[in-house]
Amino acid sequence: MKIAVLPGDGIGQEIVAEAMKVLRALKLPMDFGEAPVGGVAYEKTGHPLPEGTLALAREADAILFGAVGDSRFDNIERSKRPEQAILGLRKALGLFANLRPAMVYPELADASALRPEVVAGLDILIVRELTGDIYFGEPKGIRMTDGEREGFDTMRYRESEVRRIAHTGFLAARKRGKRLCSVDKANVLDTSQLWREVVIEVAKEYPDVELSHMYVDNAAMQLVRNPKQFDVIVTGNLFGDILSDEASMLTGSIGMLPSASMDKNNKGLFEPIHGSAPDIAGKGVANPLATILSAAMMLRYSLNQDAAAERIEAAVRKVLASGLRTADIAAPGAKRVGTQEMGNAVVAALGA
Ligand code: IPM
Ligand code: MG
Repeated sequence: MKIAVLPGDGIGQEIVAEAMKVLRALKLPMDFGEAPVGGVAYEKTGHPLPEGTLALAREADAILFGAVGDSRFDNIERSKRPEQAILGLRKALGLFANLRPAMVYPELADASALRPEVVAGLDILIVRELTGDIYFGEPKGIRMTDGEREGFDTMRYRESEVRRIAHTGFLAARKRGKRLCSVDKANVLDTSQLWREVVIEVAKEYPDVELSHMYVDNAAMQLVRNPKQFDVIVTGNLFGDILSDEASMLTGSIGMLPSASMDKNNKGLFEPIHGSAPDIAGKGVANPLATILSAAMMLRYSLNQDAAAERIEAAVRKVLASGLRTADIAAPGAKRVGTQEMGNAVVAALGA
């Protein structure tokens, strides 16, 4: 199993190092190749996604990704900014299906900004389309119109793009609570009108899954009002970006949530959904659990190693149950452990 390891910027290095410790401890036949990505790659090579990095990612069976983003590069041209690396990888590798689970660990229900009874037992999955929509739609740019600057982007979806992500959503729902909520803005946007029509067509192939539709503004509200009403949410790239950040905070910490970005052949890129967190980078306090759980998703979705994935997830639960907390999930006054201590504890819990 060939794994491309792309730690990236900010806390990326620290958290990926802990996930690697956990993966190595499993003693599976895995080959790791590491390459720079994001701001660190730009500094080294002048490009956030150098050819060598893309080639390594192409050849791998799966990619373990840390984070990109560095405010030192906010003012360079957009095509060279760190974020372009992750957008470029998604597009170049056809990683169209982004799976973002948000679940509340019983031990952490108090860490949520919502009342514990609203979130206790929460387990939802956001399926976000990742290679289309206004993120990649052309034309886009900034032009002069009537003597002033005008910015413009294009929201667009082809029916084939909607169909394939709808299938991902239905298949995921079928394996879980059998309920799929498609989120759009069909009351205003033509793109969403088509989205909704296509999802309804695809639904005919999944009579066992209950389909509902929700406008994105209402979905944002329902996620904080009563998040447990959802099982699987399927939505476009932009709406999914926003709703998945919102959903992450239901769980108490964005530092806990893994994600998978899959192509049509089960190759995937696995990354924590939090960013590079420059404010705490290099301090050894970042929570490595989202990355460790991303490694578990990698084993399950790309490498067919379900048992190993479960071992990691069980170890994480055990460590949480034993009371270990990084700063982001610690109750006020509670003892906090650092990044490495948390990683080491997960490794130790694997063995038992
Ligand atoms: C995410 C991030 C990215 C996105 C950024 C870094 C380009 O917010 O993965 O959700 O907008 O997709
Ligand atoms: Mg985002």
